[in-house]
Amino acid sequence: MKQYYARITGWGKYAPRRVLTNHDLEKMVDTSDEWIVTRTGIRERRIAGPDEPTSVISVRAAQAAMKVAGIKASDIDLIIVATSSPDYLLPPVSSQIQDMLGAKCGAFTLVAGCTGWMYGLVVAQQFIQTGAYKTIVVIGAEEISKAIDWTDRTTCVLFGDGAGAVVVQRSETPTGVLAFELGSDGSGYQHLIVPGCGAVNPPSHEVIDRRENYIRMNGREVFKFATRVLGRSLMRVLAEAGLSPNDIDLFIPHQANHRIVEAAARLMGVPEDRFYMNIERYGNTSAASIPMALCEAIEEGRCKPGDLLAMVGFGAGLTWASAVVHLGGPDESVAVSLADELFILARAKYLARRTVGMVQGLATDAIMAVNERLRIL
Ligand code: COA
Repeated sequence: MKQYYARITGWGKYAPRRVLTNHDLEKMVDTSDEWIVTRTGIRERRIAGPDEPTSVISVRAAQAAMKVAGIKASDIDLIIVATSSPDYLLPPVSSQIQDMLGAKCGAFTLVAGCTGWMYGLVVAQQFIQTGAYKTIVVIGAEEISKAIDWTDRTTCVLFGDGAGAVVVQRSETPTGVLAFELGSDGSGYQHLIVPGCGAVNPPSHEVIDRRENYIRMNGREVFKFATRVLGRSLMRVLAEAGLSPNDIDLFIPHQANHRIVEAAARLMGVPEDRFYMNIERYGNTSAASIPMALCEAIEEGRCKPGDLLAMVGFGAGLTWASAVVHLGGPDESVAVSLADELFILARAKYLARRTVGMVQGLATDAIMAVNERLRIL
């Protein structure tokens, strides 16, 4: 059977027009620019206006990605939209987006909190590897601002709106997701939750009066979870791909808090500047954060087709996902030799590591656990 790979051929993003700075927030709640910057790394975020619902910002990001990939709406076989903030509870926003793009294909919405886009990328890869589809658009879009209690300083300073997208296409040259891990630990579901307006606690005046239609977060628990999972999951997928942190051109983490990334980088022994960060400008855009960061990293020349990336997401659920990704790009001829070289190298390393796989996995976990105890607690 022919082996297919899911090549990332296009990328795009859309950031809503309105900028809300930390100084603006100082006028809304008891907070300060200094507190927000030192505790999170965020200086400003975007807030979507009434003419920029999730469907619209998704379409803008998807169209930008389609332009880079050089594809038309009629080329799309499937649309995957990761979001926790669709236009409506029903219909799925993915169908609105499919119609607005003018595509004639299947579309579905995927919910995995801030990790959703990573799940979507891996799902797209499966459809392409099986030969079922040739061209898939994977969107991460979020308007968390609509689920924020703007009187709650512990959450309202953290989040922002935005959308990012990639086009993933069938390729016979090795590229795309080389290794991945999808994770979930629902025992921590209550740490990041909108308690009202779901099936357990349907909409009512009481729910609204108790402000249960807004996000509630146990920041410290989420912080501990994120620092624990981020480095460990990355190390596991690197081992799975037969690579070490030094083989990675750029790490692209979920942009939730610069201190979480700092801690993970320390645990992994990787210099922090090898982790791409744009949280300063957008805050935590949830499922949109990694595709937006990927797009900006390429635009800023921090990574390019042919590079090896390591991405990691985490969030509500609690969920996490990481992946080692070879960035293909639209021009198949550019990255072919790079990809070939890479795969021969990776394969050799992979086979070597397989022989000590079990031991290495256990050792990685043990080292990370020791580092955690020494450096975090
Ligand atoms: N401005 C000023 N003070 C604030 C504040 C704000 N916006 N938010 C909280 N504080 C106060 C707290 O009330 C607390 O005051 P107290 O000591 O008098 O009780 C103090 O600052 C410290 O709060 P704490 O929660 O310990 O701060 P922290 O260092 O843990 O930082 C977060 C808080 C939310 C930034 C941090 O826990 C975090 O980033 N968690 C992960 C959140 C996340 O990433 N969520 C999304 C995952 S996808």
